[in-house]
Amino acid sequence: MKIIGTGSALPKKVVTNDMLTEFFDTSDEWIRTRTGIETRRILTDESLFDLAKTASTLALESAGIKAEELDYIICSNVNNNYVYPSMSCIIQGAIGAHCPCFDIRIACAGFVYALDVAESFLQTGRAHKILVLAAEEPTRFCSWKQRETAVLFGDGAGAAVVTDGGKYFGARTTTISNTEVLYQRNRLEPTPFEVEGVYLDHPMVMQGREVFRNAVSNCSSEISALLKDTNHQVSDIKYFLLHQANMRIIKGIEQYLGGDPEQYPTTVQKYGNTSSASIAILLDELVRANKISRGDLLVMSGFGAGFTTGSLLMEY
Ligand code: UT7
Repeated sequence: MKIIGTGSALPKKVVTNDMLTEFFDTSDEWIRTRTGIETRRILTDESLFDLAKTASTLALESAGIKAEELDYIICSNVNNNYVYPSMSCIIQGAIGAHCPCFDIRIACAGFVYALDVAESFLQTGRAHKILVLAAEEPTRFCSWKQRETAVLFGDGAGAAVVTDGGKYFGARTTTISNTEVLYQRNRLEPTPFEVEGVYLDHPMVMQGREVFRNAVSNCSSEISALLKDTNHQVSDIKYFLLHQANMRIIKGIEQYLGGDPEQYPTTVQKYGNTSSASIAILLDELVRANKISRGDLLVMSGFGAGFTTGSLLMEY
């Protein structure tokens, strides 16, 4: 797999920590010290589809290909205004593509999993040009009555166009089923046969410390194993593109793996946790800032509800 184009889009509304003190008993100091987040972007009059379309269009433009040339669109998305059709189907129409599409719904690790699925399609020759998109509005997963979760998130979309012909050294994907620590239940229509209480809708439920602990330990051990599997050292890697959930989680993984702090770029301070879009946005920002060159080795690693962990190592 080779990345030939990237794009990203964020809502225009910038929400500072101080602005959140209007809604919750919180403070800029608590949010900064516990998470590293200073601002986040939150959707107002745009929709998530607008962001997804812009990110996809920018990725196609930078790849220098037309939407009609795509063989597949794979989108990582947890929530949007539609249960179906899937986000990828909606974006296919919006950008004028004609290829088959599907969504992956595994929360924050979704972009890495989607790239790894794209790699399988490229390897088997099922496809040659694939748009991998991650678009999320986690500010609408959580209750805006709960300071524990609402201060953590931001909305955004990121995309990459991938083709065959590059160097993909390997990936590790793991799933540990857990419905207690991080989950959100769906709202379903009641039926006349419903047993009371079965289909309660509920905003996000999260035991933050437990998620934090699992994120640091799973990403650290999976990245270590990936480096070992592929015979690489930390010093071989230009950037570790980690899921941007909390600066302390990123620092915890950095401390475990070692290396130079510059190998661990971040956007969490600006955008908060944008779920599976975070790695895609970070990748696009580094590419557009000319901080990644052809031949650089990248590790991407995401962790989220499930629990799912996905890590990959490839050459840019
Ligand atoms: O993408 C994956 C999704 N989720 C995550 O990655 C989240 C992972 N977890 C975390 O990032 C951290 O656990 C949090 C940032 C959520 C919380 O940080 P923490 O250091 O684990 O804090 P805590 O949950 O242990 O809470 C410490 C205190 C509590 O007060 P008491 O019981 O010590 O009096 C909380 O009630 O901080 C309080 N608190 C807050 N105070 C001000 C919790 N949220 C807030 C808040 N503002 N927003």
